[in-house]
Amino acid sequence: MTDRDLLFERQQRTAIALVAVFGLFDICSRLPSLQAFAQGIPSPASEVNWQQLAAPLIAGIQSVSEPKLAASLTGSASAKPAAVAPAPIFSAPQRFQGQIVDRAQLSGDEKVIALTFDDGPWEQTPEILGILKEMDVKATFFWVGKNVQTYPEIAKQVVAAGHAIGNHTWDHPTNSMDRETAAKQIDSTNDYIFETTGVRTALFRPPGGALLNGLADYARNRQDAVVLWSVDTRDWQASTSVQMLVSTVLNEAKPGGIVLMHDGGGNRWRTVEALPAIIAGLRELGYRFVTVPELLEMQEKEIIAAEAKAAQAAAAESQPALPPQ
Ligand code: NI
Repeated sequence: MTDRDLLFERQQRTAIALVAVFGLFDICSRLPSLQAFAQGIPSPASEVNWQQLAAPLIAGIQSVSEPKLAASLTGSASAKPAAVAPAPIFSAPQRFQGQIVDRAQLSGDEKVIALTFDDGPWEQTPEILGILKEMDVKATFFWVGKNVQTYPEIAKQVVAAGHAIGNHTWDHPTNSMDRETAAKQIDSTNDYIFETTGVRTALFRPPGGALLNGLADYARNRQDAVVLWSVDTRDWQASTSVQMLVSTVLNEAKPGGIVLMHDGGGNRWRTVEALPAIIAGLRELGYRFVTVPELLEMQEKEIIAAEAKAAQAAAAESQPALPPQ
């Protein structure tokens, strides 16, 4: 596990402990006998209840690595600390962290595909959201930080609708840059996404798919998954008609694929018009829609299953042959 995984796990444990504490305080305020205990009035019934309820909880809190927080929680029942909800994080399984992916390598027959939308949030994002909702599809949006700043309410709508979020820099540079500039582009966007929507992301898509201008290197160093695509709709080009857009996706779709489209950066009316036909056409071909993190999670499961199978086979081979009878 990376340090980040450990930290995230700790944050989750802290949040679970906090939720449990608040639940307990709530019970205390409702049950007179427990309330009596909380106020320091001993009562046999309340003591039993309190100890029974609190023992596993306090053990849980003590296992949390932030000693100050644990002490403040166990020290006084009357001080209510501020609630700390864990931020949902959109990330790839560990083996893809710091790696570049353009599709999931799936061996099975399951036809899954991930639709992705770049350069938003934008005026037309709500139209895209409406179609995705209507057709029951979850997608992945790679955001430009300054557009999140311009359309914070639309950004919140995307998150509320349950789509996955990735980072697409602050203002979409494609030129070469030093590490400090790359850090600013990526970190400020991550921070702004978190401040605006409460989610974190460890998925990064470099503008233009450029891998050599410093951005992808910085993202890989911070263990982001660098997410490219396997189907490029070129929906941003005026020469791409709605029909071309639809047929590109349907012709080039493969299980585990990642489809690049745009909800932002310009008038995306072609994308809006093509989307229902793209979704319906892919469904007709047998596809199911997943987000990029879900897609990589599927590959992870396959790899783990294959490794277990290989280990089993190796173990069977190393067994000494039975002597002839
Ligand atoms: Ni872009």
